[in-house]
Amino acid sequence: MRQLTLATAFLLGVVTQALAQATPINVKKTNGCGCCLAWMEHLEENGFAPSGEDMFARLLVRFKLDNGVPQRMVSCHTGLIEGYVIEGHVPAADIRRLLSESPDAVGLAVPGMPLGSPGMDQSRWRDAYDVFLINNDGSTEVFSSYPGN
Ligand code: CU
Ligand code: CU
Repeated sequence: MRQLTLATAFLLGVVTQALAQATPINVKKTNGCGCCLAWMEHLEENGFAPSGEDMFARLLVRFKLDNGVPQRMVSCHTGLIEGYVIEGHVPAADIRRLLSESPDAVGLAVPGMPLGSPGMDQSRWRDAYDVFLINNDGSTEVFSSYPGN
């Protein structure tokens, strides 16, 4: 009985820890977007708990602009996490860094859909690309850079 209690306590601890570590992120996307789903898988593998929400393409674009994503930063999906906007195929590591540094900003963006970015990594070709920090005034700065091949 005592052993069972210990086992239960241990399991509860594991479950609680897993729940505490998986950071929820809501992902607005269009129905049938394969690369959006692949990006969500990448997030899940890296300790996030993504939930997808399909929108009509025109409404999704409006949503992006309304939430501070400049037109030149637009990609396919838009994630919302802890008050930040994550536009496009942003690597999980950059989202983690954003959350730990917690700058006063809109969020991060990888404009377009560069090959080799998470969710766009089905082929061996890699584009060089930058992750941008979107400031509250709509200006952007390079947050991190990834090499191509
Ligand atoms: Cu995409
Ligand atoms: Cu997408």
